[in-house]
Amino acid sequence: MITLAPAASANWRDIARVRAADGQHEWVAETTYYLCLSAYDGLWRSYAILDGDATVGHVMWAVDPEDKGHWIGGLVIDAEHQGRGLGRATVEVLLDLWEREEPALSGTAYREAALSVSPDNEAAVGLYRSLGFVRTDEDMDDEIVMRRTRA
Ligand SMILES: CC(C)(COP(=O)(O)OP(=O)(O)OC[C@H]1O[C@@H](n2cnc3c(N)ncnc32)[C@H](O)[C@@H]1OP(=O)(O)O)[C@@H](O)C(=O)NCCC(=O)NCCS
Repeated sequence: MITLAPAASANWRDIARVRAADGQHEWVAETTYYLCLSAYDGLWRSYAILDGDATVGHVMWAVDPEDKGHWIGGLVIDAEHQGRGLGRATVEVLLDLWEREEPALSGTAYREAALSVSPDNEAAVGLYRSLGFVRTDEDMDDEIVMRRTRA
């Protein structure tokens, strides 16, 4: 249903146009910030979320050098496209990608997925919980950390 395309010269403008809905901006940064993080910080990899040819969102991932977990970050489905199963499909595609392709992609075997999320972001917490992520006792800034051991 969806595919992921690495951010590149051909698609970064489309990713930069992805916007969360009013009321959601406290939970995520602008996608331009995520693009810069991926371009300059040397850790994260940004992707366009494609529904057919249409760019409907952004997601990035990285392997934490300390805990070796596969972290999901910057998941934003454009406001116009939310509630159609695209966020769920994106996380499922990432988990499947790591199961099939790691350690060839990052050099690290895939053992655990991880993410941080604001505890009052009910839609996101519900989504991650339904996919098997479990809240840990870790905090990251004002966010909780959820982890999911490889099935
Ligand atoms: C969170 C987000 C990625 C979900 O993407 P989406 O495509 O709208 O969600 P989906 O249609 O795939 O729904 C998946 C699940 O999310 C939850 N969900 C989605 N919208 C919801 C809402 N308005 N209220 C409560 N739960 C909701 C449900 O658990 C849903 O499960 P279901 O499929 O059984 O109904 C999207 O709302 C978004 O981009 N929000 C703004 C940015 C953000 O908060 N990102 C997460 C940062 S950690």
